[in-house]
Amino acid sequence: MNHSRMKATAGWSGLLLIVVSLMASLAWAGGMDSLRQAKPLDAGDLPPQVHRFEEGDRYARDYVQQPPLVPHEVERYQIDTRANRCLSCHSWANYRQEMAPKVSRTHFQGRDGQDQANISARYYFCNQCHVPQTDARPLIDNHFQPLRTLHAD
Ligand code: HEC
Ligand code: HEC
Repeated sequence: MNHSRMKATAGWSGLLLIVVSLMASLAWAGGMDSLRQAKPLDAGDLPPQVHRFEEGDRYARDYVQQPPLVPHEVERYQIDTRANRCLSCHSWANYRQEMAPKVSRTHFQGRDGQDQANISARYYFCNQCHVPQTDARPLIDNHFQPLRTLHAD
């Protein structure tokens, strides 16, 4: 690259930088809503609080189809193609001996609702749906209410 080409490129990137920062400050002024709030990108933040799971009483479910929350620690319970630690207690073969609630019958149903002899692949990765119970607040406030028809009144 010769000298004048280099100069021209430097000029263009300078201009681009100005345009981009102008756009960013405009977005800022417009009150763009983000989970980072109005924190500049180059400013550090405190590490997020790690919520501890709550052992003991089970949390009530908020709606009928909600996967129950896990009332125990799950940290070292491995789930991969070779092993599923959750099933060592919750499977139909083991639940009695381990005195654990058995997996739901729905977990044996395939994609089209057909019954299968073993846990359906759709349900193999338990923690995709079942998460340990914590007192974590919702990231975004909401006014969720279960359907009134589901109440006894
Ligand atoms: C060592 C045995 C054991 C292992 C391993 C285990 N659990 Fe449990 N689990 C239990 C027992 C016992 C209970 C009942 C606890 C209670 O009632 O307080 C339970 C309760 C639960 C419940 C609540 C069910 C309900 O109806 O409210 C869920 C959900 C659950 N476990 C999911 C999991 C998942 C997901 C894993 C794997 C990440 C797992 N468990 C691994 C023994 C185990
Ligand atoms: C796709 C989401 C999903 C996955 C994956 C999943 N579950 Fe569930 N699970 C649910 C839902 C929803 C319910 C409650 C409604 C029902 O019975 O289907 C439930 C219910 C349960 C219950 C309570 C059963 C009862 O009779 O009250 C246990 C125990 C459980 N699951 C364990 C597991 C284990 C262990 C795995 C992994 C092998 C797993 N689940 C994977 C969604 C899931």
